[in-house]
Amino acid sequence: MNHAVEINNLTKNYNQIQALKSITLSVPVGAIYGLIGPNGAGKTTLIKALVGSIKPSSGYINILGLNPLTDKWALRRKIGYMPQSASLYEDLTAKENILFFGKAQKVENIKQKTDEVLHFVELSERANDLVRNFSGGMKKRVSLCCALIHQPKILFLDEPTAAIDPHLKLQSWNLFRKLANSGVTLFISTHLMDEALLCDKVTILMNGEIIAVDTPQKLIERGKTVITYKDGGAIKTSTIPSTPEGLANELLKLGLKPTITEVSTKPDTIENIVLNIIGIKQNLKSNT
Ligand SMILES: Nc1ncnc2c1ncn2[C@@H]1O[C@H](COP(=O)(O)OP(=O)(O)O)[C@@H](O)[C@H]1O
Ligand SMILES: [Mg+2]
Repeated sequence: MNHAVEINNLTKNYNQIQALKSITLSVPVGAIYGLIGPNGAGKTTLIKALVGSIKPSSGYINILGLNPLTDKWALRRKIGYMPQSASLYEDLTAKENILFFGKAQKVENIKQKTDEVLHFVELSERANDLVRNFSGGMKKRVSLCCALIHQPKILFLDEPTAAIDPHLKLQSWNLFRKLANSGVTLFISTHLMDEALLCDKVTILMNGEIIAVDTPQKLIERGKTVITYKDGGAIKTSTIPSTPEGLANELLKLGLKPTITEVSTKPDTIENIVLNIIGIKQNLKSNT
C-alpha cells in the first residue's frame, strides 16, 4: 500500500520524561488518520517530530520519501502544519496573516489562493478584520488557511477542534473530509474520543505508547451492546458483543418468541470503548 507517512521505532525523551516510546505506524495516502489520546499522551510531541520541529531521540520517519530533519525545506513545501495554539499575528487581518504565510512559501497567484482558502473556511466576509477580534474557532480557521495556502499534500493538525463549539466542530470535520476527498492526507490529533468515528483510521496514544490501531468500525466492535426486551410483560436485558453477527444472532433468537413484544438496543459509546481500552492498559501496568 502507498503510505504518506511511515514511522519506525520513534522515541523522544525530554530529560527524564519518555514522551514517545518506540512508536511504529504508517498512514495511507488520502486518509484521515486520527491520533487520539488524553492530555500528556505525546500527541504534540509526535506531530512536532513529524514536521521536523523537534529532533527525535531515536527512530526513523519517512514523509513522502523525505526525512523531516535532513529534508526540512523540501518537506515544508509538501506539508501543512497547524500547531495546537494558533501562531497568528493578532495585529494583522485574517487575509494579511494568510498572505504572510503564502509569501514565505512563495505561492503563485497568492491573492486568488488566499481568497479561495478564506472562502473554503467560510471566512470571506471577515477577511479584512483584525485577528485580535476573532473568536477561538475563527482563529483556528485562519490558522487552517495558513496551513493550506500552499496546497500541501499532507496536513498535520494538532487538536484543530479543541475548545470550539459543537456546530463549528462538525463544520470543521466537513472541511477535513472535503480535503481528504480531494486527495490530501490528514493527520489529526484530538483528545475528544468521539472524533474517532470521523476518521478512517485511529491510533490511540497513551503515556507515549500506542495502545490500539484500528478503524472506527472495529473499535466499536470491541464494545458491548445491551439489548432490552419485553417478554410476556417482563422487562429483560442481555449483553452481547457489538458486532453485526452478534446482533443478528441475538435478534434472531429473540424474534422467534411470540411472547416478546418490544426490543431496543444500546451499543457502547466510542468514548466508553476508548476509555475502557485505556483503562485496561493502565490496570495491566499497575499489576506488573
Ligand atoms: N518541551 C518539553 N520539555 C519537557 N517535557 C515536555 C516538553 N514537551 C512535552 N513534554 C512532556 O511530554 C509529555 C507529552 O506531552 P505532549 O506531547 O504535549 O502531549 P499531548 O499533546 O498529548 O498533550 C508530557 O508528559 C509533557 O509534560
Ligand atoms: Mg498537545
